[in-house]
Order: sequence, then C-alpha cells, then structure tokens
Amino acid sequence: MKAAYLLDNSDRRELTLGDVSTPIAGDGEVLIRVVSVGVTPTELSWYPTFNTKDGQPRHHAIPGHEFSGVIAGLGKDVIGFSVGDEVYGMNDWFAQGATAEYCVAAPSGIAAKPASLSHSEAATVPISALTAWQGLVDRAKLQGGERVLVHGSAGAVGVFVVQIAKLQGAYVIATAAGPNIEFVKSLGADEIIDYKTTAFEHSVANVDIVFDAVGGETLQRSWQLLSPNGRVVTIAAESEGVSDERIKAAFFIVEPDREQLEKLSILIHKGALRPFLAGVVSLEDAPAAYAGRIPRKDGHGKIVVAVVASEN
Ligand SMILES: NC(=O)c1ccc[n+]([C@@H]2O[C@H](COP(=O)([O-])OP(=O)(O)OC[C@H]3O[C@@H](n4cnc5c(N)ncnc54)[C@H](OP(=O)(O)O)[C@@H]3O)[C@@H](O)[C@H]2O)c1
Repeated sequence: MKAAYLLDNSDRRELTLGDVSTPIAGDGEVLIRVVSVGVTPTELSWYPTFNTKDGQPRHHAIPGHEFSGVIAGLGKDVIGFSVGDEVYGMNDWFAQGATAEYCVAAPSGIAAKPASLSHSEAATVPISALTAWQGLVDRAKLQGGERVLVHGSAGAVGVFVVQIAKLQGAYVIATAAGPNIEFVKSLGADEIIDYKTTAFEHSVANVDIVFDAVGGETLQRSWQLLSPNGRVVTIAAESEGVSDERIKAAFFIVEPDREQLEKLSILIHKGALRPFLAGVVSLEDAPAAYAGRIPRKDGHGKIVVAVVASEN
C-alpha cells in the first residue's frame, strides 16, 4: 500500500512516500481503509514515533493517529462493527499511523463517523476533541461556572477546548491574536486577550483551570493566576519530558476512547460542537503538511490528508 513514513536516521524528520506492506488486523483488531487522516506536525518529535513500547528504536514510523475511513477487515472476536462501516477514531501511538491507505485499530478507539461530516471533517476531531474532553472533564474535573483560561484557543485542540468548556457551563477566557480573536469569540469565549499585545497575567486572575496548549513561558506565567483550588492541564509538546514536578503532574497524552467519541458525535450531530478543517492535501503532500509548508485556511483548525480524494 502507499504510505508516508519516516526514514531511519534522518536528521531532517521529513516524511518519505513509498510502498509498504499492508497491515493485517490481528485478534481483536479492525483493518481500516483510510479515507482521511489528521496532521499533527509535532508528532514527529514525540517519543512513540521513534521508540517501541519496550524502548527499542522504531523503524519507518507512519504518523497520523486519527483517521476517518471504512472498515475493510475484522480480526477474530471483534463485535459491534462490520466490514463497510464508516468509522472515525484513533489508534495506538506506538502502532503504525494512518497516513497510508490502511491502518489497524482497536475497536475501543473507534466509533461510527458522524453522518453530517465528510471524512476530512471527521478526521479533524478524534485527537483534538478527545484531548479537550479528557483534559477538561477527566483530569481537571471542570464544574459549571468555573473560570477556564485557554492558551492556544484557535489551534486544532483549542477550538474544541473553548467549545467543550462553554458546553460544560464554564466562563472562558482565551488567549489569541490577530484575526483569530474574532474567530475565538465566535466559538463562545467570554473574554479574549491578545497575547501579542497584552501580558495576559496582568489582565486575568482567579482562574480555576488553565488549559495550556502552548507551553514554555506561557505556561510558567500562568501558575500565579490560579484560584486556591486551581488546576492546570498542559498538552504542549514542550511540556513532555520536563523535570519540573508541577508540569509533569499537569501533562497528559490523549488516549483513544470509543465512549467519548460517541458523546462527541452526539454533540456534533446536534450542532453543539463544530469541527474546523484548516485545509485538505493529498497523500503526496503529506511531507509538506508535516513540515509546516501548507498554510492553514483562515489560520485555525486542522490540516487533513485526504488519502482518497474522491470520497471526501
Ligand atoms: N498531549 C497530547 O495529547 C496532545 C494532543 C494534541 C496536541 N498536542 C500538542 O498540543 C499543542 C497544540 O496542538 P494543536 O494541534 O492545537 O496546535 P496548533 O493547531 O498549531 O495550535 C496552536 C495554537 O496556539 C496559538 N499560539 C501560539 N503561540 C501562542 C501564545 N504564545 N499564546 C497563545 N496562543 C498561542 C497559535 O496561534 P497563532 O496562529 O496566533 O500562532 C495556534 O492557534 C502542540 O504542542 C501539540 O503537540 C498534545
């Protein structure tokens, strides 16, 4: 099958296109014919991209762990799905990703594709919306009426953080810049601070939850803003592997979760949660998308690789 993958020993971390073996669904797994796959460029700096679960070097990693497609095969003992079902979801970070014609996933990480979305729209949802949900609901235990500060609010994850926080009844303060300010307002944020012209720490206080998708000094300047019961979640690539105990405790990596995908699908179906597609490229352009050479339409949302353009 055709795939985009990393060459071993490449300093440039640039994807290569080529033919690789088509995966086979093992017991309890499903084979997905990928129609579209989300692009998370920072994945090329993450630990699982270069290491196996037991710490050995990983070879020819295929990135892209969120996808929308069609079930093409079922391993032994899979229940609840059939060949031909349209599904979206995530697969394991250590498994081969979906920037390819096929990938393998666990049934616990996929759900029926929201019928109102194209495959490319659906492929923008799993990683970003699950990250937002797991950060706000599972980790920070967001309660209605709490004040949430969102850094990176116009990004692929941020658009879901703002919307889900509002749906949970929070008061949302977001940092954004330029044309993204009006966009984030349209998502429902109550206050926007222009991070390019204003030091946010002088404009906001008494924050119950900081949701940080930026990291570094943005995160450092945020601790002082917390209310006595304040919590921080950080997902920024910069926050992974640091020695600061506070950041270690605040950092998490999103996990596939079928039940949560089903809840998100319902919100999308009702029109309460909107995905944002920043651009669609072909598999041939996947290396350019990972290298950041594809500009985002309107500056927000997620870029997607349409592996099968005719089905989008
Ligand atoms: N841990 C996990 O499970 C997980 C999951 C998904 C993503 N991530 C990580 O989370 C981070 C964000 O991911 P993403 O996909 O949402 O990225 P993204 O789409 O590139 O969005 C980043 C956003 O941050 C904004 N931004 C940049 N500097 C800022 C600052 N100083 N203050 C406020 N906003 C700022 C950018 O706005 P401009 O357009 O103004 O630059 C952009 O809207 C990345 O580091 C990614 O690796 C982690």
